[in-house]
Amino acid sequence: MKRQIGRITPTRNGASIMTTVGIVYSTKRKKATVQVVEWLKAAFESNGLEVEVGKPEEINTQDCDLFVLGTSVYAGAVQEPILAFIDQNQDLLREKPVATFIVCKEVETPECHMNLVIEKLPKEPMTWINFEGYLLRKGDFEKQQSKANTWVKDIISRLS
Ligand SMILES: Cc1cc2nc3c(=O)[nH]c(=O)nc-3n(C[C@H](O)[C@H](O)[C@H](O)COP(=O)(O)O)c2cc1C
Repeated sequence: MKRQIGRITPTRNGASIMTTVGIVYSTKRKKATVQVVEWLKAAFESNGLEVEVGKPEEINTQDCDLFVLGTSVYAGAVQEPILAFIDQNQDLLREKPVATFIVCKEVETPECHMNLVIEKLPKEPMTWINFEGYLLRKGDFEKQQSKANTWVKDIISRLS
């Protein structure tokens, strides 16, 4: 039984009504960002929400009731495909709730990278967060999972 969130319009799927979260992400490697996406997906699902995950070209946007947009950071830049996705879906992203995240090494002033995404959005995201990625060795990276779980709870509480 999927969960219906108060303020947003859930999609009808067969006989049941459910909320579908679209996690749209872009990165170059199958490392930290992909892992964060998997944690977020699992956390939404364990809270009873349906999740569609994909790179910008893979997502069926019409299925999604809210969007979680994520990108890794390389050399001071976020991923171009996520910016293109935002450009191409301005009306949808104005209408639906949006949360955004970045995965990078910068922990003191992550907004310097996050703003590259936020300034493209047609409205302020309801919440944004940074996850500390890694270069080669994972180090303490697994600690980011609890941050992902807490963030998902925060997103859901903002929707209720
Ligand atoms: C070539 C390269 C450039 C990077 N440049 C930055 C940067 O400018 N700012 C930053 O905060 N992190 C930077 N990082 C750290 C990455 O954001 C971090 O490794 C992150 O985990 C990358 O996402 P991924 O694991 O999904 O590839 C860089 C990493 C690499 C490999």
